[in-house]
Amino acid sequence: MQYKEEKVIVLDFGAQYAHLIARRVRHLSVYSELLPYDTSPSEISKINPSGIIFSGGPSSVHEKGSPRPQLEIFELGIPILGICYGLQVMVDILGGEVIKAPKREYGKASLEIDEESDLLSGIGPKTTVWMSHGDAPTKPPNGFITIGHTENSPYAAIRDESAQLFGLQFHPEVSHTPEGSKILQNFLFKVCKCKGSWMMESFVDSSVDSIKQLVGEGEKVLCALSGGIDSTVTAVLLQRAIPSNLTCVFVDHGLLRLNEANNVKAILEGKLGLNVMFEDEGARFISKLNGVFDPEEKRKIIGEEFIRSFEQFSDQHGPFEWLAQGTLYPDVIESAGGTGPSSRIKAHHNVGGLPEKMAFKLIEPLKDLYKDEVKTVGALLGLPKSFLEKHPFPGPGLAVRIIGEVTTEKLRICRDASAIVEEEITSSALYAKVWQAFAIVGDDRATGIQGDQRSEGYMVTIRVVESVDAMTADWTRLPFDLLEKMSNRITNEISKVSWVSYAISSKPPSTIEPQ
Ligand code: XMP
Repeated sequence: MQYKEEKVIVLDFGAQYAHLIARRVRHLSVYSELLPYDTSPSEISKINPSGIIFSGGPSSVHEKGSPRPQLEIFELGIPILGICYGLQVMVDILGGEVIKAPKREYGKASLEIDEESDLLSGIGPKTTVWMSHGDAPTKPPNGFITIGHTENSPYAAIRDESAQLFGLQFHPEVSHTPEGSKILQNFLFKVCKCKGSWMMESFVDSSVDSIKQLVGEGEKVLCALSGGIDSTVTAVLLQRAIPSNLTCVFVDHGLLRLNEANNVKAILEGKLGLNVMFEDEGARFISKLNGVFDPEEKRKIIGEEFIRSFEQFSDQHGPFEWLAQGTLYPDVIESAGGTGPSSRIKAHHNVGGLPEKMAFKLIEPLKDLYKDEVKTVGALLGLPKSFLEKHPFPGPGLAVRIIGEVTTEKLRICRDASAIVEEEITSSALYAKVWQAFAIVGDDRATGIQGDQRSEGYMVTIRVVESVDAMTADWTRLPFDLLEKMSNRITNEISKVSWVSYAISSKPPSTIEPQ
């Protein structure tokens, strides 16, 4: 993606949400990219952005070596918006005070507007915001005034309008701050005076061009397809750019949902007309997972086995110089592979789970995008709406929904229970409204009573969440009748299950998948 005219840069202080800010800005038709937090003021001057956003981050300004921008950045005359840690570091550098807050704040809070400002124009008088912080300012720097507060954060929104500096303790970029997009829009258009002429179509054209340039004549590309939206959009982009260099392969790792391989085949070959080779590698993957309990180790094993399958395939049908994957930005950032000092949440099988040595160079055309952006690209490429509404399914499959060791019994329970959850969500017309709906099983057993006899069985947990981009998520308030029906079906139809529970944790502090 390249767009030179109007740009807002996001300095990455290591937040899980740093890239999401850039993505939100692009969604508002202003080109945005992420740069390391220590990008020098002279480099920033050369880029000449209309505005700068400091992302949040996991550090505390009181820690030795915590990431800090250079002071001169505040003298460039470019509007700056600091978010969470970005606010705290701005306050600390400009002479205010930040302390470890008496109460850490995660989740929803109610922001009350105190003063009129360009940034919060049209918001309030009260609005819900999403917090995730330990430190908080106790005194803003000279020249700043408070424009909004919450019960636990007296300086939740501050400004020095004459210097065009703004700070927010909460996260306007996450979908759980309902008016967050309006706040970012105010920053872009009222404060930074942007015009907003960037479009997603530019992405399709520029990535088709760069794939053409990247792949040399006669070089062969192997595209790893899972039947999900990301890898399918990747395959369709490649087919548009380099049709005669492309081969697609689907590896069945034995950790798929009920009837998944057949369903995927019907869509890819039927509706989308892609030429795909199907490889059944289930027995090998499952045997490698024997005796493995640690979730990160499971992901690494699966990531490695995928690559070994592709290498084996390349020996038989190649050689292929390139491996194309549908990696998205959340996979990169959660595996701690971004531009800033972020911490590793999960080694997504296709990023942190890749082996150090592999025989391919990687093509990942979607690795700067979020799921909703990929859906827009998919629609621009002509993929059917029903396909674009498919729920995401993690590459390591049911292995990350089975807590502890993957055994044949737990795999059966997880697969059958997930099928019931998906069926019931679909027949209640909720499928397209929720982000994901599935079942989880671990090693916990609970006592049951069946046919007047004591029984002992596994506990199954249902997880249904709503999300826009998987960076944050909330549990879906399903009707009790529907939960009851799912529970009855799971305990009646699946042997060795005695209890069913429903997961009611949001992300953060939880993640969507249990492992
Ligand atoms: P978490 O569990 O981190 O998941 O909140 C965020 C989104 O990513 C999916 N997910 C994965 N997808 N490989 C993938 O392709 C992975 O290793 C992986 N782990 C999680 C998850 O289903 C959710 O939509």
